[in-house]
Amino acid sequence: MKKMGDFRNAKRVGVMGGAFDPVHHGHLNVAECVRHEFQLDFVLFIPTGQPSHKVTQTFNEHRYLMTVLACNNNPHFHVSRMELERPGFSYTIDTIRLLKEQTTAELYFIVGADEMLKLDEWKDAKELVNLCKWVAVRRPGHAEIRSHLEIPGLDISGTAIRERIEKNQPIRYLLPDTVIKYVNDLKLYQNCPNDCDFEGIQNSVAKRLSAEKFKHTLGVVETAVSLASIHNIDLCKAYISALLHDYAKEFTHEEKLALCKQFEMPLNSFYERNVGILHGKLSAEFAKREFGITDIEILRAISNHTTGRIGMTDLEQLILISDAIEPYREHYDILEELRTLSVANLRQANILFMRSQIKMLKEAGREVDSTGIDALKWLESS
Ligand SMILES: [Fe+2]
Ligand SMILES: [Fe+2]
Repeated sequence: MKKMGDFRNAKRVGVMGGAFDPVHHGHLNVAECVRHEFQLDFVLFIPTGQPSHKVTQTFNEHRYLMTVLACNNNPHFHVSRMELERPGFSYTIDTIRLLKEQTTAELYFIVGADEMLKLDEWKDAKELVNLCKWVAVRRPGHAEIRSHLEIPGLDISGTAIRERIEKNQPIRYLLPDTVIKYVNDLKLYQNCPNDCDFEGIQNSVAKRLSAEKFKHTLGVVETAVSLASIHNIDLCKAYISALLHDYAKEFTHEEKLALCKQFEMPLNSFYERNVGILHGKLSAEFAKREFGITDIEILRAISNHTTGRIGMTDLEQLILISDAIEPYREHYDILEELRTLSVANLRQANILFMRSQIKMLKEAGREVDSTGIDALKWLESS
């Protein structure tokens, strides 16, 4: 998957804030035109956190993931979750100040020319004007406004797209196909929304896990959703499986054993000697019992993410490899090779990863689960 460009060494960086609810070709077109005109190293898309002037918007993670999907095939586009992670209202000045601390690059703040007319309403507007270069782009329908840059008109807005979805009107060609798949698979903006409470589950996961493990989990979600979009796997199932895969990871050894007893999970002697590996099976139990997940494919993907199994589905392969290559993983020798391979071929990526894991365990004199060995043999022969 794409990694963040070398932000520190960049000379010119575009900053594109927005609700991206959903992100569409209007945003992407503006970013590309500005990047070309000002020879920017890259454009950073920053989905807004909690804006001071708007009350409701779609769950943060949906807007973030849609923006990631939209930017995946442009090496000059990157997405930042900095506003989503900051508590309280989002003000542009705070974002720009933070970016200035992280880079010496010149920042090009991309803004609608009509927004500039309301500059005096912005927090610390004077300082904001001095901190970065402003690129005012004119949106269609605002011919009276002078702008730095004329963008070939794409009269698209998030509001119009949401209305079209609600009325069951076509949205194809208004936004990337990858984003449309996300909207469809997760039933966003529709009259009958998804009955899965993504925000509620995500909040529970955040409470259950340490900050570090939760960050890993969000990395697995992002990787799984990106790869699912490439390999035509259901994005909703990818999201939920990734979100819950390590839910039980941080229970202690004793707690895990007690939970197995409570859930009446049979333990063989291997599991008794290797209690840590049980967290996949326990997480699947929690998915079922605490969050009402009944989809067998999701439950299997969570349950088997540590070892794989004979006959593992594409979703199971997706979660196993996403866990291994998510963006916050510390470097290991085949990490980049796995990231490239997982885009081309999920099965080959899993084979390479499982071979290396089994080899590593054997070299360390550790016990290897026969389920994993059988899963590898099955992947190699299928
Ligand atoms: Fe895990
Ligand atoms: Fe994990």
